Order: sequence, then structure tokens, then C-alpha cells
Amino acid sequence: MKSITPLQKARYEYQPKLPTALQQDIKHIIAVRGSATESFADQQEIKQLFPHTYGQPIVSFEAGASAMNFEAIKVGVILSGGQAPGGHNVIAGLFDGIKRANAGSKLYGFLGGPAGLLEANYIEITSDLMDEYRNTGGFDMIQSGRTKLESTKQFDQVLENAKVLQLNALVVIGGDDSNTNGAVLAEYFKSRNSPIQVIGCPKTIDGDLKNQFIETSFGFDTAAKTYAELIGNIARDASSARKYWHFIKLMGRSASHIALECALQTHPNVCLISEEVESKKMTLASVVEEIAQSVIKRADKGWNFGVVLIPEGLIEFIPEIKQLISELNDLISEKSTEFSALTDIDEKIHWIKNHLETESAAVYLSLPKEIQLQLILDRDPHGNVQVSLIETDKLLASMVSSYLEKAQVQGLYKGKFSPLGHFFGYEGRCAFPSNFDADYCYSLGYTSFLLIANGLTGYISSLRDLQRPASEWIAGGIPLTMMMNMEKRHGERKPVIRKALVDLNGKPFQHFVRMRERWAVESDYAYPGAIQYYGPTEVCDQGTLTLSLEKNR
Ligand code: FBP
Repeated sequence: MKSITPLQKARYEYQPKLPTALQQDIKHIIAVRGSATESFADQQEIKQLFPHTYGQPIVSFEAGASAMNFEAIKVGVILSGGQAPGGHNVIAGLFDGIKRANAGSKLYGFLGGPAGLLEANYIEITSDLMDEYRNTGGFDMIQSGRTKLESTKQFDQVLENAKVLQLNALVVIGGDDSNTNGAVLAEYFKSRNSPIQVIGCPKTIDGDLKNQFIETSFGFDTAAKTYAELIGNIARDASSARKYWHFIKLMGRSASHIALECALQTHPNVCLISEEVESKKMTLASVVEEIAQSVIKRADKGWNFGVVLIPEGLIEFIPEIKQLISELNDLISEKSTEFSALTDIDEKIHWIKNHLETESAAVYLSLPKEIQLQLILDRDPHGNVQVSLIETDKLLASMVSSYLEKAQVQGLYKGKFSPLGHFFGYEGRCAFPSNFDADYCYSLGYTSFLLIANGLTGYISSLRDLQRPASEWIAGGIPLTMMMNMEKRHGERKPVIRKALVDLNGKPFQHFVRMRERWAVESDYAYPGAIQYYGPTEVCDQGTLTLSLEKNR
């Protein structure tokens, strides 16, 4: 017998809000097609690679009399990549759409992400099963995985399995890579004269699958709000105890959207934005100095406490560290026998220092010993440095500490510095979806059914005008090829959906820039508190500040 908390029970009853156009009887929703589209860039190359699915129109759904006859269909669904709050609601929206149109239709969930598709490992999603997961976090109903669907052999296998199951369509819920693979799969099915349709849905807490048409990826709202709650609580603890500087590393593989959103919500003393660090070609020393200056100025006011936010991917955006990591990867793989023969740790460090280019050797030696070791000992199966495991919070805290010791000797700093490190990531990926994510995901799932019902393939489900109440959202589909350009991946030019990093000219970052000097010195913390599911709409239904700043002119 499963344990069900009171909130879980209450959330089962929550009715996600749909755009008005989708609240009609399913027979009274029509697809309105726009004109032919082009890819985001590299049009000729993309057109050649996607001869069957290139140039399709943007579609939007409106109320109207449809002449559609809904035959019973079979649809498969996968969750791909990292967990993001709301995944179950995408499936719920899809399930309800399918069943509302024809109770005889079936939905199959492939287990463990793309691997389930390859191994034909699936379950039928029944009404009872679905009801256990409505409005809940996690991907545990069918789990997820990171297997990449890229080779023709894999596509053949997927096609074979889909044919055996007599699938009409497949819905891929994933990030930029998974949706890119979805586009390739849609094209592949068409090229094999298979009528199986492929529809994508934009998922990732990182918030980096967005563009003119995809206003945000699902899960970003809930994950950022969960971290912001914790950061606000920590900031309040810091100003109560007045003795710690908290260094908080935040998930988000490479883009800094999560860190930026959390900064907008909580007003920390420092928030580093990787994209800015890279664009200004900042050195590690200058990053350390920025934090240390805030510590010094606050100490002058007698405040020996504060909060620093660090995006997960920061280290790879610091040009000199990027260079160091690349040299280390080459060096250790080229001279692996010589390096492995050294048994003493100090000997290894000495050897590394002597074999690096002068500049990288200096950067390497400036790092705390713990990090020097992590860089040479923790390597992935390909022999590369495991950058995401580097404890950037501890690295920066330790380097700020050394900076302050010198400043103290020079009489420039008289405070006391006690840092504490944190990493928030997994705490937010499976939270109960906020009302925004619950509504958005359900609408994405419902819309993906409508795209299937209208015979479309190679589309991503889309909801626009998300800054407005859910009833006013515009539901539709965007051709996946429209979001693509060519990029170099593993030495080859490939068609991919472009990852959206933080736009340094965008309104969210510009707003942060206007505020950060003040936040660096004052204790102007904001406390968002826990996500609220029941209560006034201004407390429960608001999206992120990123979205609101981007959309409200
Ligand atoms: P996706 O891009 O697949 O949505 O994953 C996002 C993410 O949560 C990143 O923020 C993080 O770096 C990564 O997944 C961690 O994943 P894993 O636990 O598989 O290493």
C-alpha cells in the first residue's frame, strides 16, 4: 500500500487550467495553419536534410466546427533526460485528449526513456494508473533515461517496434537534444513511407529550450521556485545569525537561467552569470575579486554574512579554466602510462605543472589542492575531467578566503569570514509542479494530442502568451525544423535545435544588472517562501520573473 500525503491527495483532485480554445468539446477545435516556415538559420542545409518535414506551417488551435472523425488510435510516449516537474501532467493531458476523442484509443508509456523504445519495453497507461500520478512531481510513472537515438540502426529498431505495436504516433518529452532527435525520427519515418507521427514537448529545468515560439520549457518554473524558497530561507538565516557567508551552487548544466531567476526572486549579494563571465573573458581571479569586494564592503558595515549564487556550469565559461581543462584532458590521455606510474599525489601535481603550458600551469597552481586533485583524479570513462562534479562553491569560498587574508594584511579588510557551501539540484527536479507547471504541462500534453489528431508530424507542442492567465494562452504546434541550425558536434556539422543561453541584452539580465550593485552591499533579501498550490491567484498562479520580464514590455 502506497503512502499518500494530504497534499498528494489534494493534488489528485486539481483540475489543470486549459486555454479557452481547448476547453471546447474536442470536436469543436480546429487547426489553423499559417504560411510556410524556414529554419532558424542554415536554411539550405536543413532543407536538404529534412526534405519531407521542412517548411511546414505554424499551427494554432481555435474554437470552430471541425469535421474530424476521431478513429481509435495508439500513441506511445517517452520521457527523456533529466526529471522536470510536470512530466506526469504532460502525459495526463495527452491521455485525456486521446480518450476524450475516442475511448477506444490507447496510450503506451515506454519505460526508462529512449531505451524503452529500443527494447520495446512498455506499459499501457490505464485510467487508474494515470490517476495515481496527476499533478505530482517526478517521472516515476514510466521513468526516464539518457540513451541517445541517433543512428539509423536505432531508428530502424524504433520503427520496427512501433509497427509491431501498431502505433499511430509517438510523443517525445525532452530537451533540445531529444527534440532534435524527435525531428530526425519524424523525417526518417516519412522517408520510409511510415505514417507514424512524431510530436515533441519542451522539457528541462535548465530553461535553455526556448525561443521566439517556445516561451519556456516546463519544469523551470517549479525548480527555480523551489531553489528560490531555499535561498530565501538561507538568506534569512544568514541575516539572523550574522556569521556565515553561504556559497550556493545551482543546477542548470550550462545555461545560467536558474541562477538568474533565483537572483531576481531573492536578491543575493552576488550572483555569477556564466554567460557574462565568458563574454567579458573574466579570469578566475576576477570572479573571486568580485565576490571578495562584496564581502569587504559588507564587513565595513559590520555585516560578516551574505549569500552568493553560482551556476553549475560556471567553471567551463571561464576561458582560462576551459583552456586548462582541455590541456589536462589531452595531456593525461596522451601520456596516461607515464602519469599512472606516479603513485605519490604531490609527484602527480608536480608532473602536471611541468607538462602544462605556462599560463595553464599558473592557473592550475592557483587552485586549492583539493580542486587540483579533483581535476586530475576524477575522470569519466572517456578520460575527461568531470567538470560537473567540481565543487565550485567550495573552490570559490576557499579562494575568496585567501584573497581576504591578503586584504587583511594590507589593512583593507577587518571582518571575519566563515563560508558554508551548498548545492541545490535534485531538490527541485521532482517537486510537485507549481500551478503554472501543472497547467502548462497539461495543456502541452492536450495540444500534442490535437497535433496528432490533425495528422501532423515533426512538430513541438507549444503554448504562447504564457504571461497571461492560462485561459488566454494560445495553443498550437511549431515545426521542429523551424528551431534548427547547423552546429559542430563531435567534429561533424549536425542539424540541432539551438540551446538558449542567458541573453545578456535581454530584460531579465538587464534588470539584474541594474539591481546588483545595491544587492552586493545591502541586505535587501527577498523571501519567496514555499510554492503555494491553494490560495489567491497572485500567490499561486504567477510564472517566473524571467518570463514576466521577457514578455511584459
Ligand atoms: P536535462 O537537460 O536532460 O533536462 O537535464 C537537466 C539537468 O537537471 C541539469 O541541470 C543537470 O546538469 C543534469 O540534468 C544532471 O543530470 P544527471 O543527474 O543525469 O547527471
